[in-house]
Amino acid sequence: HSAGAADPECLVIAHRGASGYLPEHTIAAKAMAYAQGADYIEQDLVMTRDGEVVVLHDHYLDTVTNVRDVFPDRARADGRFYVIDFSLAELRQLAVSERFQMDSDEQSAVFEDRFPLGQSSFGISTFAEEIELIQGLNKSTGRSVGIYPEIKSPAFHREERKDISTAVLEVLRDYGYSTMQDKVFLQCFDPFELQRIHDELLPAMNMAVPLVQLFGTGPEFEPLLTEQGLQRVAAYADGIGPSMFLIIKPDSVATDLQGTDLVERAHGLGLIVHPYTFRRDQLPAFVEDFDELLQIYLDDMDVDGVFTDFPDLTVTFLESNL
Ligand code: G3P
Ligand code: CA
Repeated sequence: HSAGAADPECLVIAHRGASGYLPEHTIAAKAMAYAQGADYIEQDLVMTRDGEVVVLHDHYLDTVTNVRDVFPDRARADGRFYVIDFSLAELRQLAVSERFQMDSDEQSAVFEDRFPLGQSSFGISTFAEEIELIQGLNKSTGRSVGIYPEIKSPAFHREERKDISTAVLEVLRDYGYSTMQDKVFLQCFDPFELQRIHDELLPAMNMAVPLVQLFGTGPEFEPLLTEQGLQRVAAYADGIGPSMFLIIKPDSVATDLQGTDLVERAHGLGLIVHPYTFRRDQLPAFVEDFDELLQIYLDDMDVDGVFTDFPDLTVTFLESNL
């Protein structure tokens, strides 16, 4: 496997857009990420009742929209509002906000220094609309920024009788992302689904795009992180997207960084490494500031790109330091 089209020194991947500055996954946040110089822009993807692929981090609506106000009686028994229970036309009626949590009946921002809650006017976009934005900007600027879609919760979608992976691949094919040279990385946390995409779906559609296996810090990922596990991953994936804490252990202190050998082992298997999530306003305890964090991962640990909520700061760091 090769890493696909882009093989520059280090990729700046805008995590949900320039989400440090504007509500995540809005067109505004994506345009800002583009203008800040991101190499790739990320889309988390879920499906609507009528089979549209939309750009949202969760298959719930209640932490980033006013769905409670607009459709108060549409929650499931668990109190959550599921994207899959709404048509695209219904989603169009919702306002998107900076991410919040509910404390009793009050909303409070997840990141308090970011864009204020409930201000201005933002909506949900389809995957196709977001691709049209990025491809449109590629035309008007002459740049060639890539997309970095993530298939969310494939097992949940299957239980709801939806094949999200096929739907995503159809959109990719329709917009010209179908070879290893196209500027796309397709990511997923679910190893069975990513393997299915590699072994069955892509060949059936006569496509091949670079695939990235995501890793969380939970115990379910441990078998995949062993030497054998990583070899299995390398048979279907071109890269890995690990939590940053799988590269430097979270209980590290500045004077004693506990680095792992994950990057080295992945590189040894020909896998590129794009850890997440680099945030100026959520720093690990082992650094004092954002540049120090970038220094450790980009320079010392030699990763190939980072998912960041702050594309501008990451671009500036790369221009002045590496
Ligand atoms: O996809 C990389 C990173 O975004 C994974 O975490 O939860 O932000 O999608 P999450
Ligand atoms: Ca993601």
